[in-house]
Amino acid sequence: MPNLLSMNNLENDTIMSLMDRAGEFQHGEKASIDGTVVNLFFEPSTRTKMSFEMAEHKLGLAVLPFETAFSSILKGETLYDTVKTMEAIGVGAVIIRHEEEEYYQQLEGCTIAVINGGDGSGQHPTQSLLDLFTIYQEFGHVEGIHVTIVGDVAHSRVAKSNASALKQLGAKVSFVCPEEWSGEYESSEHLDDFIENTDVIMLLRVQHERHTDSEHFSKENYHQQYGLTVAREKKMKDSAIIMHPAPINRGVEIADNLVECERSRIFKQMTNGVFIRMAVLEYALKGRD
Ligand code: CP
Repeated sequence: MPNLLSMNNLENDTIMSLMDRAGEFQHGEKASIDGTVVNLFFEPSTRTKMSFEMAEHKLGLAVLPFETAFSSILKGETLYDTVKTMEAIGVGAVIIRHEEEEYYQQLEGCTIAVINGGDGSGQHPTQSLLDLFTIYQEFGHVEGIHVTIVGDVAHSRVAKSNASALKQLGAKVSFVCPEEWSGEYESSEHLDDFIENTDVIMLLRVQHERHTDSEHFSKENYHQQYGLTVAREKKMKDSAIIMHPAPINRGVEIADNLVECERSRIFKQMTNGVFIRMAVLEYALKGRD
C-alpha cells in the first residue's frame, strides 16, 4: 500500500491526481472504503486530526480511537511496536503526527500504510497538498504563481513541504523572515519588497514551542516587520490571496481583522483539507492510478 511520508518524492502526476480526486469529492462524489484506520497523534492538533476524522467518516471507514495518554507508549513501548500492533490487529492505515523529524524511518518493516500528519520540523504532506489544491482552485494552475512564504521558515514543516512541491510544479517561491529563521533557504527581511508583486502571501505560525530564546520575542515588533498589517494588505494585487496553515497567532503573523477578509483563504484551506485527506486515504488504502 502506498505511504505518504513527504512531498519530496511525490511526482507531479500523483499530486495532480490527488488534487483531481479531491475536486471530485468537493463536487459531491461519494466513495466508500471497507477498512479500519487509527489516528496516532503524539503532538497537539486541531485541524489535521479533526479533518482526517471527518474524511474517514465521509469514506465510511472504521476509526479506532487512540489516546496517547492512555496507551502503552507510557509504559515505554516503541513507536515501531505500537504501529506493528495496529498492523497485527488488522488496521489498514495509520495517520501519525510525531515530534521527531523522520520518525517514519523507524517503521521500516511495517506493511501497514503510513500517512504522515507532521513530523517535527520535517514535513507535513497533507497540509502541502491542501495548500496546492487551494492555489490550484484559485488560479487554475500552479506554474508561474509567485508564492511568498513569510515567518518561521526554519521550524516549519509546512514551509519545507510547500517549498519543494511548489517549485516542482513550476511556482516561484520567495522567503521573508528574520535571518536566523531562514534555515536552508535564501531569504529577505523586507516583506514590503514582495507585497505588491506576489500572488500568494503564505504566512507561517511563529513556533514558540520549538524556540529556545522566546523570551526575547516581541509580538509588536514582529507584526510591524514581518506581519501582514492592514496597510500591507491594501498594497496587495487585486487577485492576490492570503494563506496560513493555522493555528494563527492573531495580531502577530496577521492583523486580527484580516483573518477573514475577502482575500483570505485561511478557512477555505481547512475546508479543502477534508477533501484532500479523503483522496489521500483512498490512495493509501486502495491505491490509485
Ligand atoms: N495546520 C495544522 O497542521 O494545524 P493543526 O496543528 O491544528 O493540525
